[in-house]
Amino acid sequence: MRPAEAPYETKPATAPTPTAGVAVTCERVHKRFGGETVLDNVSFNLGQGSFTSLVGPSGCGKTTLLRIIAGLETPDHGRISLTGPPGSRASESAGRQSLAVVFQQANLFPWKSVWRNVAFGLELAKVDPATIERSVANALALVGLTGTEKKRPYQLSGGMQQRVGIARALAPDPSVLLMDEPFASVDAQTREELHDELLAIWERTKKSVLFVTHSIDEAIVLSDEIAVMGVHPGRILERFAVEMPRPRTEETTRLHPQFAELRHSIRELLVRDALDAPAVAAR
Ligand SMILES: Nc1ncnc2c1ncn2[C@@H]1O[C@H](COP(=O)(O)OP(=O)(O)O)[C@@H](O)[C@H]1O
Ligand SMILES: [Mg+2]
Repeated sequence: MRPAEAPYETKPATAPTPTAGVAVTCERVHKRFGGETVLDNVSFNLGQGSFTSLVGPSGCGKTTLLRIIAGLETPDHGRISLTGPPGSRASESAGRQSLAVVFQQANLFPWKSVWRNVAFGLELAKVDPATIERSVANALALVGLTGTEKKRPYQLSGGMQQRVGIARALAPDPSVLLMDEPFASVDAQTREELHDELLAIWERTKKSVLFVTHSIDEAIVLSDEIAVMGVHPGRILERFAVEMPRPRTEETTRLHPQFAELRHSIRELLVRDALDAPAVAAR
């Protein structure tokens, strides 16, 4: 988690801008590592209040793009702009958008209690104690962990540890949540429970979420929009709208006719891209 302010241009939400309604814009983002082009002029928008997934095979550059948006990596070319939502804490502070990141591993401090882990970023930022108290309580309630404040991470299951990681990200009330395969290392049943939790959290907070995953199913269950990335080089192949009604659960979504249709279309697109990839890489 990083209760960070963007290290690059931000725009006041109230300004009449062509990107109104957009939380994050990536324009022609290009990144090379060594001799390899990892991101090839990626342009991409995350809508304000949208849950958008970035789906693609391992190695296509999803984490790199997320890290560039988070300001943890710099692009070789291209631009990232962040727009705060109207009336938010982000827009009040001169149009700054606040970001938080959830990674695959919760990376909790093993010697700190759940409460201290969730409070960590706020304490570091010297937020006043009453606000920290309120923010931590709210965040723990959102992830269903009220009552675990005094526990240490080793006393919690992997799924619960990941929920603490999500609470830590939510505690500073960021306007954008970036999630990088946060459920990849929990078992299948826990993952389904966490999907339902995250759907409920989104209903209550309506944050702008960018969710990175290689699982097409997970992306469909959770998202309003799916951006599909191809590999060699990493680029956005196509975007899909997920029109299944909310509030959702894992089960209702999987039973919806659009689930199978979308799954098929995205799989086809990725299979075609993988077949083309060696020819592209050899150019
Ligand atoms: N810091 C780095 N140095 C060199 N190569 C990197 C670095 N980070 C990522 N890569 C390479 O960039 C490509 C995309 O990686 P990544 O963004 O982690 O993909 P994904 O998250 O989609 O699996 C991979 O080939 C990976 O080896
Ligand atoms: Mg990754």
